Amino acid sequence: MEKLIIEGGRPLRGEVKISGAKNAALPLMAATLLAPGKHKLRNVPDLRDTRTFIRLLENLGVKSERTGDLLILDSTHLVDAEAPYSLVKTMRASVLVLGPLLARLGKAKVSLPGGCAIGARPINFHIMGLERLGVVCKLEGGYVDAHVEGPMRGDVIYFDIPSVTGTENLLMAAVLAEGTTVLKNAAREPEIGNLIDMLLSMGARIEGRGSDKLIVHGVKQLVPANCTIIPDRIETGTYLIAIAATGGSGTVTNCNPAHLPSLLEKLRSAGLRIIETADTINISWPAQPEKLPVLASVDIKTRPYPGYPTDLQAQFMALMALGSDICVITETIFENRFMHVAELQRLGAKIRVEGHSAVVSGRGMNGLCGAPVMATDLRASSSLVIAGLAASGRTEISRIYHLERGYENLVEKLSGLGARVWKEQDQEL
Ligand code: EPU
Repeated sequence: MEKLIIEGGRPLRGEVKISGAKNAALPLMAATLLAPGKHKLRNVPDLRDTRTFIRLLENLGVKSERTGDLLILDSTHLVDAEAPYSLVKTMRASVLVLGPLLARLGKAKVSLPGGCAIGARPINFHIMGLERLGVVCKLEGGYVDAHVEGPMRGDVIYFDIPSVTGTENLLMAAVLAEGTTVLKNAAREPEIGNLIDMLLSMGARIEGRGSDKLIVHGVKQLVPANCTIIPDRIETGTYLIAIAATGGSGTVTNCNPAHLPSLLEKLRSAGLRIIETADTINISWPAQPEKLPVLASVDIKTRPYPGYPTDLQAQFMALMALGSDICVITETIFENRFMHVAELQRLGAKIRVEGHSAVVSGRGMNGLCGAPVMATDLRASSSLVIAGLAASGRTEISRIYHLERGYENLVEKLSGLGARVWKEQDQEL
């Protein structure tokens, strides 16, 4: 196992290029199951999760070929319809093959993902929606064993809570169903817009892109896709917060500022200067010669898009640990997404958890001090990287395989911004 070493306290400066979005790449890769033929996906990030998803697709009979960020998936011959526990337990997003396999083959057997570090994360909305389309789902031996006689039939499906992968799974099921499916209270994350664009390019008929009501008119067949993955908004936000936390300045390129409305607003409220173009964001501190920047403490509450993203909650908490006052960070999406608090405390952060909220008493921009900490999940880990970069002295983060699930070339990108950061073998048992 490897650990990440950071010698912190150095302002990050320069430019960093953002990769394709993990959470868009995974559903788009799943959608290639819908139509036989060679699909071309561009701007696909090379991550532990995308590699796991390729393995999952290969198990189903898909052939893959990768050249740089171009991924060609040939789904002409499917040989299986099962997503085994060994893969699903390492990546919950494997459940995304359920909808397309049912649409293409009329059957699918997918392991139930089980619990997760950030919450229970059930898939009952996925199953309820598929049942509305005529699918028979049996839960047996830890698997969802699903089949449908003939094509699925369109219906109206209402989500109690907008679910990102739930919306994606049902969209992929509905595009080949007979008649019209209406998804109400659907999630509106930009990754869903990316999936809809891909499905439209394959010949699907979908109305309502960008809204919480999606109307899908089923078609008989689809053609292979040629599609580009959108920039990763969570990676974008992570680098912006890291630059801010180290008192630095820089430009994030190849991103889409329109996908981060709430974060950019919060960073401005905290005192940062943000300049956006169509695909870059420049972040800096207003000139305060010879002085440490003063960061205003700003409350956040996580919400479905376009609200503040839960996937950037931990990173913002690391930033607010350096604030000048007190703020409240409220998590409303997942019930256990404060695992980073105890680790941030090891770096000197003053945080008190009260139910779904964390009260952060900022210690000022030079208030944190390096320490050994442990990564617990993907985004929690990136908050430790941010805190480590801002802290004086040395921080060692163990179990960094979590980070490798979602951040492409993290060490290279941070080094390019002037950070002192490297990986070492960890002796942890
Ligand atoms: N929910 C249910 N039942 C369901 C589905 C969801 O109760 O059947 C609940 C969840 O427990 C949660 C809420 O609905 O309280 C929203 O969950 P959602 O289904 O939207 O989450 P997800 O689709 O499993 C995706 C991202 C997550 C991101 C969430 C929220 C992918 C592959 N994953 O998960 O990304 O946190 O949406 O935005 O798109 C990450 O990248 O680190 C990550 C965890």
